[in-house]
Amino acid sequence: MPPSKKPESTRAGRFVTQLQGYKAFQPSPLPPALKQDEEMTDLLNRATHAVGKLSGLSSIIPNLDLFVYLYVRKEALLSSQIEGTQCSLEDILNTKTTSSQDIEEVSSYINAMNQGLTRLAELPMSARLIKDLHTYLMHGVRGSNKTPGEFRRSQNWIGRPGSTLTTAAFVPPPPEDVARLIVELEQFIHGHDKIPLLIKIALIHAQFETIHPFLDGNGRLGRLLITFLLVYWQVLETPLLYTSYYFKAHRTEYYTRLMDIRLHGNWEAWITFFLRAVLESAEMSAQSAIEIHKLITTDRARIHTPLALRTYDLFCREPTLTNPILVMKLKSSKPTVQRALNYLQNLGIIQKTSTKRPHRYTYQPYLDVLTRDTLTQIG
Ligand SMILES: Nc1ncnc2c1ncn2[C@@H]1O[C@H](COP(=O)(O)OP(=O)(O)OP(=O)(O)O)[C@@H](O)[C@H]1O
Ligand SMILES: [Mg+2]
Repeated sequence: MPPSKKPESTRAGRFVTQLQGYKAFQPSPLPPALKQDEEMTDLLNRATHAVGKLSGLSSIIPNLDLFVYLYVRKEALLSSQIEGTQCSLEDILNTKTTSSQDIEEVSSYINAMNQGLTRLAELPMSARLIKDLHTYLMHGVRGSNKTPGEFRRSQNWIGRPGSTLTTAAFVPPPPEDVARLIVELEQFIHGHDKIPLLIKIALIHAQFETIHPFLDGNGRLGRLLITFLLVYWQVLETPLLYTSYYFKAHRTEYYTRLMDIRLHGNWEAWITFFLRAVLESAEMSAQSAIEIHKLITTDRARIHTPLALRTYDLFCREPTLTNPILVMKLKSSKPTVQRALNYLQNLGIIQKTSTKRPHRYTYQPYLDVLTRDTLTQIG
């Protein structure tokens, strides 16, 4: 990660010395005049193609709501892992059986994505919606005492634990500038420019992190916005693109690229990095979508009783279930449900995964596809 060759230190904004002596960053309005080299053009084309292909998959996946349901959960897991949340996809899928602060945090993220997408029907992408998203996101989780849904009213800073305003790695703009900067960001979002949408979103994400409008949760909200804007602009029909995995796996470069914008005005290196994140994430999602589609199509075709089919569909929604839970969901009797479970077990579709009663049954191949590229796997 070499720093930009020709530093243009004020291209993205200026560090302004405050009365108290520290320097806070004052970002310039978007967009900068960009220099698009061959590498960026190539990545833009490939990323755009990959996102288009991913969006196209929405129409071939029969169980789209299910797929999105699981993917939103997967995104939540990946995004939370950047912050250090420790829970696996299985934990998220079994929120009834596991309870911890981590899972609440992930559930809030899911809730924010879902509620936010619903609100898009009545609200434009705006400061209002950003604040609402933040309220949903921070509800009941760590940081929830830090004025959720409200822009900060104090100076914050990014740095190692124990750092101060003067020793911080980065000091975002003073609190009195936040509302104006978000309005400017909103104007850029709605502006009629010719900037390709993926590049536009790269600029928005970085600017959002630079403004750091909230006391906490800026990273999580900023990453949520990437997917959100793609749905808002109808590039994606459903929130199938997840970049958090990439950002987690490349966290050092993620931070360095953001800092290189602020320090050296190096927008281009950030955009290139961002486009690579989109490209790889889109390809990964598409691959999982196709694998899940194949698995469901194959397994479903092997099931020949109506109740076993309904049971199977529930396993696609929650890959680990027990007899009593199925009795409730299917409004059926315990022996009937057990017959369906035995039937699916004999087909090798589900397995008994606990010896304690009530026994847990897991649709493992399905879980394998979903967890393959989550971070628990790569440690
Ligand atoms: N050293 C750094 N250099 C540049 N940017 C940073 C650095 N550390 C953090 N950031 C940015 O700030 C975000 C974290 O801000 P904040 O704590 O408000 O959000 P979060 O959602 O709680 O955290 P996280 O992103 O870790 O999940 C990071 O995601 C990144 O965008
Ligand atoms: Mg934080």
